[in-house]
Order: sequence, then C-alpha cells, then structure tokens
Amino acid sequence: MCGIVGYIGDKKAFPILIGGLKRLEYRGYDSAGVALLNGSLENYKKKGKVSDLEDFIAGRADEGSVGIGHTRWATHGEPSDKNAHPHVSMNGDFSIVHNGIIENYAQLKRDLETHGYTFESDTDTEVLANLIEYFYLQDDEITSEAAVQLALSKVVGAYGIAVLCKKETGKIVVARKGSPLVVGLGSGEYFIASDASPIAEYTNQVIYLNDEDIAILQKDGFTLSNVRNNPVSLKISNIDMEIGAMDKGAYDYFMLKEIHEQPKTIEETFRGRLQNDYSEIVLGGLLNVFPKIEAAKRIVIIGCGTSWHAGLIAEYLFEEYAQVSVEVEYASEFRYRKPVLSSDDVVILISQSGETADTLAALELAKSKGATVLGICNVVGSTLSRETEAGVYTHAGVEIGVASTKAFTAQVTVLTMIALKLAKRKGTISNETYKVLVKELAEIPEKGRAILDDGEKIKAIAEKYHEAVNALYLGRGYLFPVALEGALKLKEISYIHAEGYAAGEMKHGPIALVDNNLPVVVVAPQDDYYEKVVSNIQEVKARKGNVIAIVTEGDKGLKEMVNDVIEIPKSHPAVAPLLAVIPLQLLAYHIALLKGCNVDQPRNLAKSVTVE
Ligand code: F6R
Repeated sequence: MCGIVGYIGDKKAFPILIGGLKRLEYRGYDSAGVALLNGSLENYKKKGKVSDLEDFIAGRADEGSVGIGHTRWATHGEPSDKNAHPHVSMNGDFSIVHNGIIENYAQLKRDLETHGYTFESDTDTEVLANLIEYFYLQDDEITSEAAVQLALSKVVGAYGIAVLCKKETGKIVVARKGSPLVVGLGSGEYFIASDASPIAEYTNQVIYLNDEDIAILQKDGFTLSNVRNNPVSLKISNIDMEIGAMDKGAYDYFMLKEIHEQPKTIEETFRGRLQNDYSEIVLGGLLNVFPKIEAAKRIVIIGCGTSWHAGLIAEYLFEEYAQVSVEVEYASEFRYRKPVLSSDDVVILISQSGETADTLAALELAKSKGATVLGICNVVGSTLSRETEAGVYTHAGVEIGVASTKAFTAQVTVLTMIALKLAKRKGTISNETYKVLVKELAEIPEKGRAILDDGEKIKAIAEKYHEAVNALYLGRGYLFPVALEGALKLKEISYIHAEGYAAGEMKHGPIALVDNNLPVVVVAPQDDYYEKVVSNIQEVKARKGNVIAIVTEGDKGLKEMVNDVIEIPKSHPAVAPLLAVIPLQLLAYHIALLKGCNVDQPRNLAKSVTVE
C-alpha cells in the first residue's frame, strides 16, 4: 500500500527512482511523484500511473543525485495531482513521501493552522510535512533529522517516510513505524524502498528498518537510531532476488505468468522438504517448535483475503489428519476482539507480503497473550517473518499481480506439509495414508501442468459468461474455500459481483439468485461429497441457472448435466484444492481480460495492505 523509493549517491537519481517505482507499482497506482535535491528542491507529481509521471516530467528531471519517490494508494483524499506525493511543506523547506496513516492528523492540522499554516491537499502526509517544517523553523540550530524526530513524537499512527530538506542537500532522513522500509547499502550510495525488489539490481546488502528506527543517509555514510534517540543494533541482511523473476517474460500480464508458474512454485515450495523418496517431510523452520505444536490444545490460523482462504483449507487438513481443533480468523476482526488465547495455543499467521497491517496487529496481540506465534510468508525479511517465533517460507517467488495466485497454492502446499508432519508426529495418521498423501502432493505439479496445457478451453467459457453481472461459486469440504477463492478472484479483477458459498448452504438463501442469467461455478470433483454436490447442481439446473462445473477428468455424467465443464486430473481430496483453484484463476483472468480490465492492477486495490 503505497510504494516509497529513494536514492543518494553519485548516479543520476531520477532513472533509479522511476525504475524503483515501476517495481513497486503493485503497492498502489493511483498517482506518483518524485522529488530531487538539485541545488533547489524540485517536486513533480501526477495523478495516474508511473508512466504518466514519466510523460509529465519528460526530460525535466535529468540532474540531481539525491531524490525520493512515491506511488500512491489513496487513503486521505481522492487520487489527484494535489493529493499525490511528495508533499512539500508550506515554506518549501521539506519534501516528504509517506506510506501509512497519521491517525491524529486532524488535530495536528488544527494546531498548525493556529500557527498560520495552510494546506493544499486533503492528505495526512502534508500535515506531517508541515509539522516537520514547523519544528525546523523554531530553532536555528536544529537539524532536519531532529525536526523529523520531534514531529514523529507527536504522531499517532503508522508511517514509513523519506524526507528531503532543501537546506541540507546531501541527506535523506527515513523512518518507519508500522509500514515497511528497506535501506540498500551500495558503495558510496544508498537506496531506499518499501521492499527489496527495487534495490536488488544494485546491491544485495540491505537493512530492514524496525519500528521506530530512523536512519540518516548521506553519500559517505549513514546513522541508524531510534526516534527516541535510543541506540539500535544494526543487522545487515543479504537478499537473493532474481531480477528476471520481476519481469513479465513472454506473458501479457503478471497474473497469467504467475498462474502458469504454479507447477514450478509448488515444486519449489516442497523441494528439499519432501525427502527420502517423499517418505519424510522436513520443515527446518519449525523443528524447534514442533513439540509445542504437538502439545497445542488449539491452533488459531489468521490471515486476510486469499491468505485467509488458505487458512480455511488448513482447518480441514489439521482437523482431519492431526486431530487438533482449529479456528480460522480474519486478522481484521481478531485484532479488535477480546480473543481468549493462552500459552497453550499455537497461532499461525499467513501472509504473502508479510506486511499486512491487520495480520501484523493480530501477531502482536497473539504474542502479548503468550501464544506460540508462527508465520507462513512469501517475502523473505518481511516484518511477519522477523516478528514470528518460527515459520516456513513459501517459495513462490516475487508475486506482482495484485490478485494472488501462486502465493495461494504455495501457502496451501506449506499448510498441507505442516498438517501431515504434525499428524505423523502425533501418530494420528496411518503410515499408509501419510505416504499416499505425500505422493499425491508430489504429483500436483505434473497434474497442474496438464490443466494449464488445456487452458485455452477456459477462454471459450469466459467468452460465454463475461457479460454476467453476478456469479455464484459453490464447493463443499476442502473445496468450499476454493469456491470462496474463485469468487474473490473474479470480483477483484473483473468487477463482476461474485459470491462463494458452501454448496449445502445454497438452499438457505443464495438459491433465490438463481435464474437463467446466473453463472454458477461448481467445484465438483469425484470425492466423498460428489453425490451431494450433484444434487446441488440439479437444484440450480431446475431453476435454469447456468452451471460451469469443475469435474474429475472423464466424468461423463456431469458433462451431460451442466452447461460447461472444466476437467481436472483425479487427485486425493486433501490436495484437490491445489488443482481445482487453477481453472478458477484462469476463468477470472479471461473474463476480466474480455471486459477490458487491467488484471494486474485492478481498481481500488493494492498488493500489500499496510494500512488497516
Ligand atoms: C486477493 C489478495 C488479497 C490478499 C490479502 C492479504 O487476491 O491478494 O486478498 O490475499 O490482502 O495479503 P497478504 O497475504 O500479503 O497478507
């Protein structure tokens, strides 16, 4: 949610900033801007994408080797030129980019107005810019970093900021609380970004700022301290990011590329973890905490959106095989409830980005109650991965499409491994079932490839239904969360209203929606629920609904009963979500494309939701 970049060194800053903003555009794309220190303080900003900003600047920002940039996802104030970042303070001394929300901005604004400050934008960020300037102008001796510290001491809320001061031309001040910031260490140069992806092509050495860290970057050195002036320990991390993985390659959209990568990313996720001819699951990250997981009376799984759907699948897995009680929670609800948690509980937080504000708040709450707190995360070095006691990385690689696809299947892969390993350790699964399931998991990439090879058929189905206004997605058991995920994919990228439902619940309400205009996507492979799901399909057909069924290869019965079928290879029900979700991702993708939507950057969304 909002991307921040910065550069200080000998190179021209502008191309580095623009390149970085393009990498971070998935975090927000309603407006963009850069500021450069080049004798004076130059500020450029524009509503629209980073490419619109580039066109707007067109050759005007060639000079300057100190700069900051921003790509925005609006919180305070609609997307517009005036609300775009960087924000310049009233007297022109400071330019600032910000990710987060200043919750007490209204009060701060009123206070500044009593000191004669006026405001051009509707944003909380401009208030912070003016507050910094206000403190700076109170004292002839004060440095810009001290003014930033004073201003931040008045702020309630979350921030990742980068600040330029017109009178201190060789310096960028950065600070974070609640919103991620990474500093890249080059030779005689420093980089700043909201995540490591814009930095990876310049250096592999980074520092992940912790909450309340403040760093002062100068060409020939940097200092790191706490906004309260307490010393902090410095930890330099190495990043290992494949730059090519951040390009679309031969695909038109990142989403399509990422859907097609899934056989490989699922393989990457279990590589090295399924050992000895798949007879052993080794999860190094959980080695020391498995005794606690085994002893847990309850496992609470927390996430948002697609990650929450992965958690729902895990509930079925953990309960069936490891025989442990599981609750799955929306982070945004959990954090504000008064949950009953104790040291007997294990909490698993799932997050692709590892930066989702609600999930991080839930993490802190769970920790404060003494629970064992574990993470499943895709982004190495993210806040979630640093703040949890232990965890497992999903090795899905960088996910850029805003709609999550490969991260979801990687999360489900990890959760399946944890459930099976736990069941084995607890003795709640027979050796035979364990082996069958591990083998089934290992076979998923091959079966996934078969679905993707046949993906063109789904395009023809999308053509039939892309003008629908509503859609219903149904599934049972392990495939109920898949129905939820299919509906989420469709609504977020095509803007068609879609609801996911447990098929058995349809008769309690949603059936009223069924008519000859309603596409009903039913996930109906041949498993224990098959007969029941077929009955649900009959109920839809009896009301003239159009059924698109996801069926097991060779299922002739359903082919005759429904309007359209998409076949998936036969698999064990416990791993079927990993296959069944692929056609649903492709269906959403093709429908969105036919509707002319930007599938990688759907309206109003951002990939990393770092505000609550
Ligand atoms: C949907 C989607 C979102 C995210 C959610 C949580 O396609 O991507 O629903 O799953 O915002 O994000 P993470 O997993 O980064 O915590």
